[in-house]
Amino acid sequence: MCAPTCRHRESASGFRVTQDELKAAVAREAVKHAVEDAVIGVGTGSTVNFFIDALASMKDRIRGAVSSSERTAERLRGHGIAVLDLSDIDEIPVYVDGADEVDGGFAMIKGGGGALTREKIVAAVSRKFVCIVDASKQVQILGRFALPVEVIPMARRHVAKELARLGGSPKLREGFVTDNGNLILDVSGLSIIDPVALEERINNIVGVVTNGLFARRGADVVIVASAAGIRTLTRP
Ligand code: 5RP
Repeated sequence: MCAPTCRHRESASGFRVTQDELKAAVAREAVKHAVEDAVIGVGTGSTVNFFIDALASMKDRIRGAVSSSERTAERLRGHGIAVLDLSDIDEIPVYVDGADEVDGGFAMIKGGGGALTREKIVAAVSRKFVCIVDASKQVQILGRFALPVEVIPMARRHVAKELARLGGSPKLREGFVTDNGNLILDVSGLSIIDPVALEERINNIVGVVTNGLFARRGADVVIVASAAGIRTLTRP
């Protein structure tokens, strides 16, 4: 038996599984949602990296992918998957992405990897959002994970003050610049009782590009991997 802090989990069959194995399992499951001969939206992060690797097995049966970050685009191209420009596409049937936290209403905190703005754009154009997580990301109330907020550099001080007025403690993500040339403030201490209202409130602060609450457009499907197996939850 491991110490409680170790990254292994005991599976139903008694084998220990690592968090990476859970991410790989949930990624393989998500490939089943890819639509043949269509474009797929692809998020960003370590779980999505496993998804891209799994998607490569059906690369000849999809039209290509719309990417939410430069990192994801590079990995897609590395597998020979065409990366398409969102401006050339009317609608994406399915978007697959990870999350830092997801609640029971399918609202999420995202942006741990700093790709939140492009992720939100691709999600907005997609008919179905498939969120892939291991069970450690499931929460009752969002907010234990510091909320990422993408900010225009010259507005950094103003936005930080406004976020503090909302009860948060913003901290600049040191040495990080987004794909859009902006900064990230990671905000801890927020009380996220009403994720939709807070998402709108923060987006209304001048200088905010977007924030990592994905509540107005939450997930439609959440696939969760745990040591007990894979569970697919669908929004009622
Ligand atoms: C990147 C994201 C990611 O989906 C989120 O941070 C989860 O990443 P990981 O799968 O590495 O835990 O929002 O901006």
